[in-house]
Amino acid sequence: MNLKEKELVNSLKEHSDYKKRCLTTYISSPLFGHPDNIYCDSPYVRPCRPQDLDENILFTSLSQETLDNPNHLLAQRLLLNIYEQDSIFLPQAPRVLNFKKFQSFYDAELMACGHTIRPELEHFLFDWLEKSIHIEGPWNLETFIAYTDSILKKIAQSESQLYKELTASQDPQSAARFYLIQCAGDFLSEASAMGKNVLGNFGSHTSELFKILIDEYGYGVHQKKHSSIFEELLKQAGLSHHIHHYWQFYTPKSIALINYFHYVSANHGSFFRYLGAMYFTEATLAYVTRAQSKAIKEIFSGNVCTQYFDEHSHIDIHHGRMALNKLILPLVKEYGNKILPEILRGFEEFQLLQDVADKDLFAHIKWHDQLNEYKQKANFLRPNYGSDMSFTEKKGELSVTHIHPVDELFWVEEGEIEFIVSPDKSILLKAGEGIVIPQGMLHGSLVVSEHCQYTVTSLELRK
Ligand SMILES: [Fe+2]
Ligand SMILES: [Fe+2]
Ligand SMILES: [Fe+2]
Repeated sequence: MNLKEKELVNSLKEHSDYKKRCLTTYISSPLFGHPDNIYCDSPYVRPCRPQDLDENILFTSLSQETLDNPNHLLAQRLLLNIYEQDSIFLPQAPRVLNFKKFQSFYDAELMACGHTIRPELEHFLFDWLEKSIHIEGPWNLETFIAYTDSILKKIAQSESQLYKELTASQDPQSAARFYLIQCAGDFLSEASAMGKNVLGNFGSHTSELFKILIDEYGYGVHQKKHSSIFEELLKQAGLSHHIHHYWQFYTPKSIALINYFHYVSANHGSFFRYLGAMYFTEATLAYVTRAQSKAIKEIFSGNVCTQYFDEHSHIDIHHGRMALNKLILPLVKEYGNKILPEILRGFEEFQLLQDVADKDLFAHIKWHDQLNEYKQKANFLRPNYGSDMSFTEKKGELSVTHIHPVDELFWVEEGEIEFIVSPDKSILLKAGEGIVIPQGMLHGSLVVSEHCQYTVTSLELRK
């Protein structure tokens, strides 16, 4: 190696050491560490399970096949925190402002560390989309409209899988609540990412986006803000309406939907990609929300007001048309076909992410229905296997929710533990009992006896 090459290697090493230090500093914030409770009682307390940290998240990326890796959840949680530190989050009454936590969350040094590692986390989380979707050209307005129309038509005409899965659950109300929790991470600060795209200097078309934004924000009338309407729905469904109260129950694939919009909005070079994703979501929500409304009405026997979904069935027909006719088409006419592949990429990427998130939600709902079967499965498997790891925990010890990359056998040797999969669903496991945890399924636990000793065993090679 000559001197110049050595200097280059050293500076790259310093650069990666600096990134590692920023990651460690960021994740060491007490706000992201171990909580007292499985529910978050402050907008600023957002446990991330730092013990799962693998510095490789700065230097590698996920593939669609590795999305059940625990680092996926960790990185999605971290990235959401980084993005949301750029927006205003304040507690709502009766919750009071903890000024210390507020200042810690928005601490300039902490935010700077987050911003430093943001590009690496974005690459880790979303690079697989880039590799999965191939936009073969050339594209013009005619082929773009024909293609996107065909996709939207297919969605409009297809039966709602969500409706089917929620209503077919053995416990539809619990399934619906778990679904609403997945939505809450996004809907309670709805369109915040959109806000990042409306400032600057541009031609008249881009101001159309501002009109969509002010619809979403209720024209400044707080009760009409879409997130306020969603809060009412949550309350009527028996859930807390406070932001991120259910932080620990968001699956990584649900958080990905929120983060994707921040990702293409925080990086203004992806503005046209943002428009494509926004077009897909606004245009499909007009149909999807009808099925959501029907499911919620039926499941809660009309006792939960579905105004949130009904409002979107109406307004998003309008927003979808605005996105196409007032934004995308005029912008392509003005700037040329060169922006079309990016718009299409956003449309396709978000469609794929939504599909992945939907399938994951349905898998969770099925698992929640079958906890007893998975308990029996553990009974059946246990005599044949030893254990990979053993843990002893004290009363009140909470295991922050997480996922495993492979199926796992969880077995209690001594004491009792509450095994938690959703706010509605948990199962008490006593000594001599266990459960099989399928790959990628979110779960946590709480020790309820003085002590509890349990073992975990990977079933990866034993299937
Ligand atoms: Fe909305
Ligand atoms: Fe909308
Ligand atoms: Fe676990």
